[in-house]
Amino acid sequence: MSFKDSKVVIVGCGNVGSTTAYTMISQGLAEEVVLIDVNKDKAYAEALDMAHSVYFMNRNINVHPGDYSDCRDADIVIITASAPMPKDSTNRLDMLAPSIRIIKSIVGSVMENGFKGIFLVISNPVDIMTYLVYRLSGLPKNQVIGSGTNLDSARLCCELARMYGLDSKSVSAYVCGEHGDSEFVSWHSAVIGGKSVENVMRDNPDRTRNVTPEDLQKQTIKAGWDIFNRKGNTCYGIAASTAAICKSILFNENHIYPVTVRLSGQYGIDNAWLSMPTIIDRTGSREIVEIHLDPEEEKELHRSAELLTSFYDELGL
Ligand code: 2OP
Repeated sequence: MSFKDSKVVIVGCGNVGSTTAYTMISQGLAEEVVLIDVNKDKAYAEALDMAHSVYFMNRNINVHPGDYSDCRDADIVIITASAPMPKDSTNRLDMLAPSIRIIKSIVGSVMENGFKGIFLVISNPVDIMTYLVYRLSGLPKNQVIGSGTNLDSARLCCELARMYGLDSKSVSAYVCGEHGDSEFVSWHSAVIGGKSVENVMRDNPDRTRNVTPEDLQKQTIKAGWDIFNRKGNTCYGIAASTAAICKSILFNENHIYPVTVRLSGQYGIDNAWLSMPTIIDRTGSREIVEIHLDPEEEKELHRSAELLTSFYDELGL
């Protein structure tokens, strides 16, 4: 795949879906971007507004409203539609019941139009929704990916970069497991300029102050809520994360991102969908990178897997 003839369909034109579409257009990632929403006026207006922006962009991109027949020859279908977060909720899992119905309807409509590409699931609770899309679509597991903890990992890297006055891209740290309260940081594999984060924290007390790895993990888990509770959504981080995953697919980049994939025996876990660092290429999730986890980290991974799989029976599959 490459830019030429590439086509991405985005289902859901709310804050996340429309920001994702605009991000992809701004970066010139796909030749055709199609917006689908139950509110057809919304899809029309978002697409027309973005089409006017193309005049100023580097690449001539065909962005337009569409319907599920546009999925037939799409390379990627991004699902952002989800139920509204219940008022005063503090857990993405609270969106499970209403989101199941929405996802079932979307996947049914996409697949009845002969979609053979890659699903990228953003809708929360994303790990369980990704499993649901996999089961409903019948596509091979590598063709169903969730945005998972890709954004959480970026949030952690940004915080570490802020603490030590660095470009966040000079920090490599992975948040694994659930995109939610049971996620954990694999400190064993976290490095800054090739030096372990734990040693950087120890050797720079003036910048570390009294911050501990546990504090950073808690802050990362809370980061989405810090934003949501003030502006009622998050969109820029998740949109950029989604665009980056799409870029690795469309340009066959083999970039490693922590995304929701199926564990099939790794770390002794089978048939659980959660985030581990994964090589992303034109086939979707090409290979899970089995990073070394210390015993406590492995326990946290199992805890996350048990939590997520405990909800699979509620999916009505
Ligand atoms: C977030 O953490 C939307 O769940 C996503 O921002």
